[in-house]
Amino acid sequence: MSDKKADVLVWGPMHAALTQNLDRDFTVHNRWEIKDLDAWAAEHADKVRGVITSGVFGTDNALLDRLPNLQVVNSFGVGYDAVDTAYLARRGIQLSNTPDVLNNAVAETAMALMLCVSRRISQAERFVRAGQWTTGKFPLGNDLCGKTCGIVGLGKIGKTIAKRAAAFDMNIAYFRRGEPYADVSYTHYGDLQELARASDCMIVIVPGGPETQHLINRDVLKALGPKSYLINVARGSVVDEKALVASLLASEIAGAGLDVFEDEPNVPAELMSLDNVVLTPHIGSGTYETRQAMADLVFANVSAYFADGSLVTPVQL
Ligand code: 8YV
Repeated sequence: MSDKKADVLVWGPMHAALTQNLDRDFTVHNRWEIKDLDAWAAEHADKVRGVITSGVFGTDNALLDRLPNLQVVNSFGVGYDAVDTAYLARRGIQLSNTPDVLNNAVAETAMALMLCVSRRISQAERFVRAGQWTTGKFPLGNDLCGKTCGIVGLGKIGKTIAKRAAAFDMNIAYFRRGEPYADVSYTHYGDLQELARASDCMIVIVPGGPETQHLINRDVLKALGPKSYLINVARGSVVDEKALVASLLASEIAGAGLDVFEDEPNVPAELMSLDNVVLTPHIGSGTYETRQAMADLVFANVSAYFADGSLVTPVQL
């Protein structure tokens, strides 16, 4: 039987449509509005059966520990590295995310950053706005056509990026430990530094988490080389940010397009000061269409769970 007024704890402010749907069908507790957590917990904690969070907010085990009847965590976003999946598995708590619906938006962000760095679009705009066009000449950029786009993480988003980069007449290469994928004909590298060496633009789109922490280190950046660009639309944790700053300052790579950072929303001052770096505030999935689709998918998961115990897009824990 459907349990539509189940108590759910919402971790942080969510998409308006999701908020509206949750408020209508559930008893919602907004974590960020709770002033006295102990007092709230004494009255409500044992009623909470669901947590709604996002890839950015994640969860925190100390608070989850206080929810003895928690059954499900529904996360807004495809990446769930900010949630402790081992902890959820131990407690038998289920998890859902929002795969697929954001593939196009994130791929478009990657393309935007690649174009932006190779053609110096942000820098060019600053040049015009500063009135420098009337007196100066703007430096040239680089073609993408005929160049190699190296993809670190040829998952669903990686493949969507590959398709778009191929339409720009780029050669596509990718890194995967071990065997190549059987369903693509792109050039495979089992060694990340070799991919970096072959890439004119290397796009990072692997999941975050301990397994990919600082995968892009100084050696990989040196292998990428002074004529090539790094794009990160994955997680800040995948790139060693200190190494990236050092590489950029030493002109070991040509530039970078970064949508994600190690300590969001804090961006190192050195990156802010560099003209060959394009910085965006984690907008990978940030379009009206995609965020609506993500909000709908989160709600479909919450609704399904409290209707019959199923999830539309479960994460295998
Ligand atoms: C954010 C993302 O989660 O899907 C992901 O993994 O990084 C983004 O879509 C989303 O912006 C959370 O607000």
